[in-house]
Amino acid sequence: MTQTVINDPNTIVCDHPLCHENLTIIRDKNTTAEVFRNAIRRLTYLLLYTATQDLETEEVTTVTPMAECKTQVLKKDVKIILAPILRAGLIFSDIASDILPNASIRHIGMYRDEKSLKPVWYYDKTPIMFDEPQKTVVFILDPMIATGNSGLDCINLFVSKRIPVENIRFVSLISAPEGLEKIRKYYPTLKITTAHIDETLTKTGYIIPGLGDAGDRIFNTLGD
Ligand code: URA
Repeated sequence: MTQTVINDPNTIVCDHPLCHENLTIIRDKNTTAEVFRNAIRRLTYLLLYTATQDLETEEVTTVTPMAECKTQVLKKDVKIILAPILRAGLIFSDIASDILPNASIRHIGMYRDEKSLKPVWYYDKTPIMFDEPQKTVVFILDPMIATGNSGLDCINLFVSKRIPVENIRFVSLISAPEGLEKIRKYYPTLKITTAHIDETLTKTGYIIPGLGDAGDRIFNTLGD
């Protein structure tokens, strides 16, 4: 399907054959919850690979069985935070924490008020203040950027706790142009990695063509 093209260097679309393959699986309404979850897990590797590409490294000395050499590791004084937005964001956090094993996972709980489409907070596992915000990098994990309201609230939370905007990255599977535009209005330089930009939103805030309700499909609660 056609990608909506937006002219924005800070929105990185992970335009990879394996992303397309797995997006097709999760868009299909006949895909079971188990197959849906596994396809998202595969997509998480691809998205995180892209979203972590500019993490800083430092040189260390490593001794192999054959010789001593200089190698690179992630900068040791940088603290990485994974912030999955409940509940759908949970699907990213297992694989993301495998890839970034020293990261802290700070859950954010929000649901969408069906009338106002505004997020309602119910959980926030962030500290009152971060020890070294300048040395903290945050990955906000939310499969769908639809209206952009919950994403924006979550970004505002970290910014209010002094995390520099350039240290915050947003990772999503599918984004709507409307939601991206809303985030961009306030945070033009924030890095967003997504696998696809779809066409638009319905009046009730669902992405078209999208994949339906990500949380319901992940947790097999469709029809509740
Ligand atoms: N959240 C979802 O799970 N799906 C959408 O289409 C929009 C928001």
